[in-house]
Amino acid sequence: MSKKKKQGTNLLYDMIAEASAYDDVIVMGRGDPDFDTPAHIVDAAKDAMVNHHADYSPPEGLLALREAIAERVKRVNNIDVDADTEVVVTNGGQEALFLMVVAANGPGDEMIVPEPNYTTYADSLAFAGGVKVEVQAFAENDFRADPADVRAAVSDESRSLLLVSPNNPAANVISPEDMREMLGIAIEHDLIVLADDIYDLFVYDDFEHLSPASLPGGKERTLTLNALSKAYSMTGWRLGWIVGPADLMARVRELKAAISGGTSVISQYAGIAALTGPQDAVEMMAEAYRRRRRLVLDALDEMGMAYGVPQGGQFVFADISFTGLDSGELAQRILSEQHVLAYPGSAFSKDRKDYLRMTFLQPEEKLREGLERMKVAMADIMAERQ
Ligand SMILES: Cc1ncc(COP(=O)(O)O)c(C=O)c1O
Repeated sequence: MSKKKKQGTNLLYDMIAEASAYDDVIVMGRGDPDFDTPAHIVDAAKDAMVNHHADYSPPEGLLALREAIAERVKRVNNIDVDADTEVVVTNGGQEALFLMVVAANGPGDEMIVPEPNYTTYADSLAFAGGVKVEVQAFAENDFRADPADVRAAVSDESRSLLLVSPNNPAANVISPEDMREMLGIAIEHDLIVLADDIYDLFVYDDFEHLSPASLPGGKERTLTLNALSKAYSMTGWRLGWIVGPADLMARVRELKAAISGGTSVISQYAGIAALTGPQDAVEMMAEAYRRRRRLVLDALDEMGMAYGVPQGGQFVFADISFTGLDSGELAQRILSEQHVLAYPGSAFSKDRKDYLRMTFLQPEEKLREGLERMKVAMADIMAERQ
């Protein structure tokens, strides 16, 4: 198959391989923050290693870390949890999302998913034998999923509702008003809410993040995921968690014990330092993303691209339909001609061939250079269309 015809993940893997062959490539695709993990966190991991704190931990994680997580979700998200029975530490957000999808859904169960969304939710649901029911949202409404559409998607088979806010790749934040309505629908139809808060510390302008588990009636039906990957620039450390009501968390713990047992204790000690230590690095990163977001949006405006305004997270999902090219072809041309890697929307969903996902995870100077090169590629493509 030629590269042009490839879609989805296969196309992405080919493009990542091609990008790694260019010395001067600028990667605006993958979600790895460019900052170093803060030094005090690295020191805590070193200390755990040299002091032989390296035995197995219980499947649910070290108590000291679960206590730090309980304190964090109370402080940041206003969720009350018991560190003994309502917190499970995971191998990053990725394991957390698999565990929560599989804990909540069984064969034939429907999970309502606002789209576009992070694709491994669908992959995990397929392992559980569940069925994804999509609710579509678009750039012209800044990817707001309408609660009325969510309500219309409910059936007798509905079991869960996925709420990722801020979202990847759409970068929308579910407003407090919509969140209350979403939770109301879940209560009315007895759905489990699966909340992904992984970008909760990165919210822009006047947008506001609200965790559904913090609302009346929310905690008892909501599993909430988070991870240190994005907020502390720790993607490779693999440390995340789920919090939720004790009955659902007992199932999560059983699954976690069966799949991987306890998470690496070295990373867990690092996690305690991250959550209990100084938070200025998080604020510094959030401030940098705010500036970079502006740079990217200004450049997209110049290129004439429409986009959903990123209200949070680290991405922008831009509409490239005006080029007349499929996003796979467009991303491939930008990569081959200008050595800039952005992700085609088709990697996220077959219905998103008209979109391109870009991240803000490069130093400003590199980001500027990447955007300048993109402008050249876009000008060439548009000139061919004249
Ligand atoms: C929305 C969302 N949830 C979960 C994850 C997985 O998190 P982690 O990198 O900690 O495995 C990601 C990663 O990009 C994500 O974007």
